[in-house]
Amino acid sequence: MPGLARLLLSPPSCRDLTALRAAVAGKTVLITGASFGIGEATARLFAEAGAQVLLIARSEDKLRALAEGIRATGGRAFVYPLDLYRTQDVGPLAEQLQRRHPRIDVVISNAGKSIRRPALESLERRDLERSLAVNFSSPAALLLALLPRMIAQGEGQVINVSTVSVKPPAAPRWATYQGSKAGFDFWLRSVGLEVREKGVAVSSVYLPLVRTRMSAASDLYRFAPALSALEAAQVIAGAVVRPRERIEPWWLRGQVLAAWLFPGFVDRLLGSLEGWEQARERRRAGRS
Ligand SMILES: NC(=O)c1ccc[n+]([C@@H]2O[C@H](COP(=O)([O-])OP(=O)(O)OC[C@H]3O[C@@H](n4cnc5c(N)ncnc54)[C@H](OP(=O)(O)O)[C@@H]3O)[C@@H](O)[C@H]2O)c1
Repeated sequence: MPGLARLLLSPPSCRDLTALRAAVAGKTVLITGASFGIGEATARLFAEAGAQVLLIARSEDKLRALAEGIRATGGRAFVYPLDLYRTQDVGPLAEQLQRRHPRIDVVISNAGKSIRRPALESLERRDLERSLAVNFSSPAALLLALLPRMIAQGEGQVINVSTVSVKPPAAPRWATYQGSKAGFDFWLRSVGLEVREKGVAVSSVYLPLVRTRMSAASDLYRFAPALSALEAAQVIAGAVVRPRERIEPWWLRGQVLAAWLFPGFVDRLLGSLEGWEQARERRRAGRS
């Protein structure tokens, strides 16, 4: 993305590999959702900076290829396949991780499932249940299993890869994604207040649109300005190099303020856009 557009769109980031190396070389960094998109780019970047990376996702073949690529360039990577929808598998995996790795310094909770669909069209609540498991309950269960040892270490960092859309206003068709991501965001920020005195820092990264498999699923964003996966990884790197509780684009507080100051206007605007989209869909259905 060109410099000016990045300046306008992106949260603060770290593009200085030397600074990242100083922060993570020799450390163990666990990344969920490392098989594609932002997680994959983050794993490559952190491994290049000298971190040992633990890679989690469902696509074992993708994780293995990524780990081999990292090892081929002298890095260290370990693969741990996991389906976060299977909440019952999270505890055993956390035990295995802690048995094999005496320290985990940074956890990047990145895996996520996005869905843009009218809530009433979600079949038998399956979308809701899946999204709550992948975006909230399983990442929370993983952290609950890992945090005691991070606290015993006396230091560590948890980074939540969140989205600007967990902030107001609520948007039509995003109920499941916004609800599950916002729930986890709130949960983790609350946990962060409890663990920071014990040496564990919690950072929430609110990303704008990023060009990945996830955003490609929606036509709506094809021409919208977006970060690349590497640029998003550099934002996450920034959260490690300069740990803060919130990493967000400068305009996000303006969005929240507008939704708070003019709730009726913002809701009417979003409602009109939804009405326009429904009418367009009816016209298309009528033509076919
Ligand atoms: N793209 C954006 O515009 C954007 C903007 C703001 C925030 N974000 C957030 O950034 C994070 C990464 O998104 P992305 O854009 O990189 O999407 P992506 O390319 O679709 O990658 C999502 C990652 O999550 C993993 N994942 C999905 N379901 C899983 C499951 N059931 N169990 C284990 N892992 C699972 C995927 O791996 P497998 O399929 O191999 O399991 C993949 O590695 C998400 O949390 C998303 O909410 C994205």
